[in-house]
Amino acid sequence: MLVNKEDLLKDAVKSVVLKEVVGGVVEAAKAAEEPEAKVIRIACGSDHAGIELKLTLMAYLQEKGFVCTDLGNYDPDDRDDDYPVYGEKVGRAVAHGEADFGLLVCGTGLGISLAANKVPGIRACVCSEPYTARMSRAHNNCNVLSMGARVVGRELAKMIADSFFGTEFEGGRHARRVHMISEIEARRDEA
Ligand code: RB5
Repeated sequence: MLVNKEDLLKDAVKSVVLKEVVGGVVEAAKAAEEPEAKVIRIACGSDHAGIELKLTLMAYLQEKGFVCTDLGNYDPDDRDDDYPVYGEKVGRAVAHGEADFGLLVCGTGLGISLAANKVPGIRACVCSEPYTARMSRAHNNCNVLSMGARVVGRELAKMIADSFFGTEFEGGRHARRVHMISEIEARRDEA
């Protein structure tokens, strides 16, 4: 039987086109099955002492796909600002569901976290190394990370943020204990 070159070429083109169409359909089906990646929103706050580190961390986290909102302070020369203002702002943003997590920075990370922890539903922790940051999520379900700009350097702060925002709460027996903390909060008017 004589083979016509043109027919052969047509068949080859058809097969390539068919492969592309089938491939496209398979990819589309896969994409439809995959749940959309959830965007994690982080409310960020600092007093004057923490502005520089806060901005460094915000840029770092944004590059990783987190959505960061700066709730102030914005002016590093405003040395008369008060850290409780920003601790409360970030705490309320998280408690109201406007953000999934909070990120706080002051000189030590302490004052601003103490303020955030007065907002019901907030579990803020001060971290100076990655292990505590990881466990604060895994066991304590902390929802606000606080750091001291006069305590940790930039690179360590990034590692701490990676550990905190990259860890899921383990639940189980830890959920019971975290719930007990919420119960103490509910009894706050008792003597
Ligand atoms: C401000 O000087 C400083 O007291 C504040 O940033 C913080 O370290 C308080 O806990």
